[in-house]
Amino acid sequence: MVGGGEGAYIGNIHRIAARLDGEWELVAGAFDVDPEKGRSFALSQGMHPDRAYGDYLALIAGEVAREDRVDAVAICTPNFTHYPIAKALIEAGFDVICEKPLTATLEDAVALDSLTRESGRFVGVTYTYSGYPMVHEARVRIAAGEIGIVRSLQVEYPLEWMATAIESQGNAQAAWRTDPKRNGRGGSIGDIGTHAYHLAGFVTGLKLESLTADLATFVEGRALDDNAHVMMRYEGGARGLLWSSQVALGNSNGVRLRVFGEKGSFQWFQEQPNELVYAPLGGRVQTIKRGSDEVSEDARLRSRTPPGHPEGYLEAFANLYASFAEAIRARNEERAPGLLGQNLPLAYDGLKGVAFVEAVVDSAESNEPVWLTPVAV
Ligand code: NAI
Repeated sequence: MVGGGEGAYIGNIHRIAARLDGEWELVAGAFDVDPEKGRSFALSQGMHPDRAYGDYLALIAGEVAREDRVDAVAICTPNFTHYPIAKALIEAGFDVICEKPLTATLEDAVALDSLTRESGRFVGVTYTYSGYPMVHEARVRIAAGEIGIVRSLQVEYPLEWMATAIESQGNAQAAWRTDPKRNGRGGSIGDIGTHAYHLAGFVTGLKLESLTADLATFVEGRALDDNAHVMMRYEGGARGLLWSSQVALGNSNGVRLRVFGEKGSFQWFQEQPNELVYAPLGGRVQTIKRGSDEVSEDARLRSRTPPGHPEGYLEAFANLYASFAEAIRARNEERAPGLLGQNLPLAYDGLKGVAFVEAVVDSAESNEPVWLTPVAV
């Protein structure tokens, strides 16, 4: 692992998720921007002293020289570092699991996607919400035509944690997220809007054609947006509305997706992640439960407990790690991946996410609609 040191947020989620199914073992790390802190954190996490590295270049040099070198490296650092770290890892022959957004700029995302394809390395992107079994259930049912042609969708990711200027009060996570150089051009849209965009496309299979965006910065002195409204047009005429906010008081990770087709609709809400609400045309509204007999193999494979025992965020994240393991193993064994290793977020999905963020900022700055270029569809 690179990043995810003492006091960091997502690194610990990766550590728990990676270990949940026994597919991965964490054996080496350069966990902190401060080499000494990184090394001592590595020791506290049980790494062998030889594999407690001060920075990612030392990690690469050390691991390349070992017979039992790591198979893959998880990148859990602020956005602007993803590209140089991923590039160096891929060039040294490692597979990569990278946090979203894939990179801080579109140029870097295009370069990383190309490098991934040329090298044959695996690059998985941790779009967390695509790990939920009932999100897969919606995807499978929409692909099977259960709600007919999709007419419209609503997707939202509201948070409240940045409702005041916490970036100037010592909050490390907020500090880099409000700095365009370290974060990229999209504030709330780059941090959480990118999750919502991916979720909507993942579930419906729709390709985004154009968008019109309105970005706002409500907290005084903040350099990036903290609230985004995006109107979207998908190929084939479907419409979408996306809302991301870091200042939506009363909301904590209330990711919600509603998809309306000509024959019915699906709704999924991350605070009740074990349920998918299905409303067929002319029929009764139904709740489909994770773990029940009526769910697809795709959802069953991503469940661990019977219905009624709640599963959530950590299990969804673990599903991504299990999918990455299956995809890598299949590539190594030169076979097609099993169901678990299919429909998972890869470098190209990361590139599309960065292109979306850039298009949103371009639209907001110009007050004009923006058409997604071919690289991003
Ligand atoms: P954080 O600020 O809590 O942690 C960043 C960590 O990276 C710190 O330990 C820092 O010392 C380390 N670091 C920084 N530069 C480094 C370098 N060059 N080498 C080694 N370590 C370095 O950040 P947070 O919130 O954990 O976010 C990290 C990444 O994860 C971001 O890209 C963010 O967008 C993403 N993220 C994804 C989430 C998801 O749902 N998939 C949720 C939260 C964050």
